Amino acid sequence: MEIVFATHNKNKVYEVQLLVPEHIKILSLETIGCYDEIPETADTLEGNAKIKADFVTKNYKLPCFADDTGLLVASLNGAPGVLSARYAGAQKDSEANMEKLLVALKNKENRKARFETVIALNLNGQQLLFNGIASGEITPTKSGTKGFGYDPIFKPEGYESTFAELPVEIKNKISHRGKAMKKLIDYLNKMEK
Ligand code: IMP
Repeated sequence: MEIVFATHNKNKVYEVQLLVPEHIKILSLETIGCYDEIPETADTLEGNAKIKADFVTKNYKLPCFADDTGLLVASLNGAPGVLSARYAGAQKDSEANMEKLLVALKNKENRKARFETVIALNLNGQQLLFNGIASGEITPTKSGTKGFGYDPIFKPEGYESTFAELPVEIKNKISHRGKAMKKLIDYLNKMEK
């Protein structure tokens, strides 16, 4: 089965490729010739995941899934949330986003946070949603060089390392996207049988 993952983020395609069995071929947006920046105009993760999946299905008539993720920080009332990519501005700069978050949490005792992912799957004329959550806390400083986004300042529950210090295989097992993706893959596997 061939299915499009509606993202331009090579890290995400790489992470997901490792999770998918061989008979499911993941096509990136570039592979299908889509270079558009799909507008994420909804005010929920679910809404944005649906917009991205629907864009590909409508314009390319292909089965597709799209994800949207937010980092929800407890003492900031769930910010940056759906605005996580653009927290420090439209340029979507991860370094600036992390700096802004570290400053916002400077005098806060409660550093609890969670990543949430919603995946929208468009397949056989149906739309299905899958979700995944990774709970943890925001560290006072950055550490680690792996991953992307807020990984250097997010320490998952039960670990002494940030996501950016953990091997990708471990991050995949415990991460928001890994968990949501596992639900998606279990579903796709069942469909194939
Ligand atoms: P997206 O919806 O997956 O593009 O995620 C929105 C933003 O959340 C990204 O631009 C990143 O800043 C952040 N983000 C998403 N997933 C992760 C992750 O696995 N680690 C760190 N940051 C992430």
